[in-house]
Amino acid sequence: MTVLALETSCDETAVAILRGDRSGHALFASEVASQVAAHEKYGGIVPEIASRNHLIHAPRLLDRAASAAKTRLSEIDVFAATTGPGLASSLMIGASIAKGLTIGFGKRYLGINHLEGHLLSPFFVDATPSSRKSEPCDGGVASTMRAQGDIKPNLSLIVSGGHTMLVAVRGLANYQLIGHTVDDAAGEAFDKVAKMLGLGYPGGPEIEKYARGGDPKRFDFPRSMPGSENFSFSGLKTAVRYLLPKIGVIPSEVEGSRGVTKEEFQRGPSTPLCFARDNKLLADLCASFQQAIIDVLVTKTIEAAQKYRVDLVTISGGVSCNQELRRQMGDASSRKGIEFRGVEPWLCTDNAAMIAFAALLRLRAGFESQLTEEINPNLTLA
Ligand code: KG4
Ligand code: ZN
Repeated sequence: MTVLALETSCDETAVAILRGDRSGHALFASEVASQVAAHEKYGGIVPEIASRNHLIHAPRLLDRAASAAKTRLSEIDVFAATTGPGLASSLMIGASIAKGLTIGFGKRYLGINHLEGHLLSPFFVDATPSSRKSEPCDGGVASTMRAQGDIKPNLSLIVSGGHTMLVAVRGLANYQLIGHTVDDAAGEAFDKVAKMLGLGYPGGPEIEKYARGGDPKRFDFPRSMPGSENFSFSGLKTAVRYLLPKIGVIPSEVEGSRGVTKEEFQRGPSTPLCFARDNKLLADLCASFQQAIIDVLVTKTIEAAQKYRVDLVTISGGVSCNQELRRQMGDASSRKGIEFRGVEPWLCTDNAAMIAFAALLRLRAGFESQLTEEINPNLTLA
């Protein structure tokens, strides 16, 4: 069975082709077109620009995916698309294309929850040669990646730009939401603090880069909601905001400006508004902020795994690209005798391979969608 999946829930346009047989599954194409550059100057995602770009990118990605997989769209058995959660005007594009192809070629259709795509992605078993591992997230990947369909019970942390949640996974389509953020998602906190510091978007990789070599204990940021299974990151963001003037840094609030020292600010706008990029202060700030997020994510995940008596912890979503988070989650898990599984970096951020994988597993379990099924921007997992 060959599945073609489209992912257009936010600002990445993605298409993947996954083929499954009795011996396993193989990913034949995974194409992602990033729109970061188109939205960067607005300081956030503009829904109309996102949907226009999906319309521009999708036909090209469909062509590229089909030729990478050495197949024709008419030979696909099932068309799948992300149907939520996400931006309505973006979700509509991918779902409409998948439905159009389904009708045009007389095939089957399956709508997939974006969060389930992330949640199942740690079960892809990578057989990609190591020479391909440095492939950028916005590049195409036609790999020999193999995926196992065996979903072990696990405690899943989904941590991305739009979501931070803990889910007890008992098997495919058997999920219990046990905690979520009550305000900002962890990735959103990375993005907002990076913006304050005048770093680029997305903020997570930028903060991770500057945090290397920094002192994570120099600034004591809050670890909110201890003992709860829910998360809160807006207080942490505010704590960084209030700290900056106290340590002589004017937060970057102006579009396109950079975090500056007080002296630079007072010298006037003709001075380049630039945080000294090799500054120890910036490294310590980034490391302390990153550690505050990691502490909360690791502590709550391990506590939940123990409470729900599961011996496997998985993490997925864009923030799970963070090497320090993976290292510390791995260490904390092994101290408690718990297995830990992350996701290949290119599979952490939004992509269609995870949607195709979820679709294939669901099809095997007998799920199928009607063409009348609508997108749902607020779709929940459980
Ligand atoms: O999963 P994703 O691509 O999109 C959503 O579904 O939201 O996640 C994007 C988020 C962004 O907030 C980005 O800053 C964050 O993932 N991110 C990271 C890293 N790479 C991406 N956060 C921390 N460290 C990273 N290395
Ligand atoms: Zn996502």
